[in-house]
Amino acid sequence: MNAWPISILLAYLLGSIPFGYLLVKIFRKQDIRATGSGNIGATNVVRSGAKGLGIATLLLDCGKAFAAVKIAQHLAPGNYDLAVLAAVAAILGHVFPVWLGFRGGKGVASALGVFLALNWPSGLIVFGIFIVIFLLTRYVSLASIIGSALLPPVALCFIHQRTPIVIAGLIFIPLLIIVKHHANIRRLLSGTENRFGAKKASA
Ligand code: G3P
Repeated sequence: MNAWPISILLAYLLGSIPFGYLLVKIFRKQDIRATGSGNIGATNVVRSGAKGLGIATLLLDCGKAFAAVKIAQHLAPGNYDLAVLAAVAAILGHVFPVWLGFRGGKGVASALGVFLALNWPSGLIVFGIFIVIFLLTRYVSLASIIGSALLPPVALCFIHQRTPIVIAGLIFIPLLIIVKHHANIRRLLSGTENRFGAKKASA
């Protein structure tokens, strides 16, 4: 059995489970993509008025990505390259899910999950920074963007297997997340971004 294709495919498929979309569809009979920012992530699920489903989305999106990396680590113990590739595959699954026509989320909760699995101290530190920025500004998107940008330097303080695949993966994940926040960045720059808890939301 070759652990590489199995781990990467499984990671993509796990990452591609659109929990926010499914929970809102099942429990509220709504399409989360038609409300608020249109994102399928936890922030928009809470914004739609479903706080409990939003928390469940956060935990499940984080958990699926965590599981994807843990499975790769279980199938090929000590292979850090494969663990990082599984992390990238899980994020790609979340951002480009085959089930939703490759139009998925922004990858923030999934990134937390993969970093907690790859190297939990860096995951916790960046999550702490995310929380501080969020509490200071009430912008989830700003906290996500800054937190993502800090992921590579923080992770590299702890991760000593600095192979080209590991470095590339650590840079690719935050870059993808930041690119996926392009609409949020435009709104932040123009002062029209939705603050968490505010009523109005735009696409
Ligand atoms: O996790 C996504 C968050 O950073 C922004 O979500 O719905 O405000 O675009 P949203």
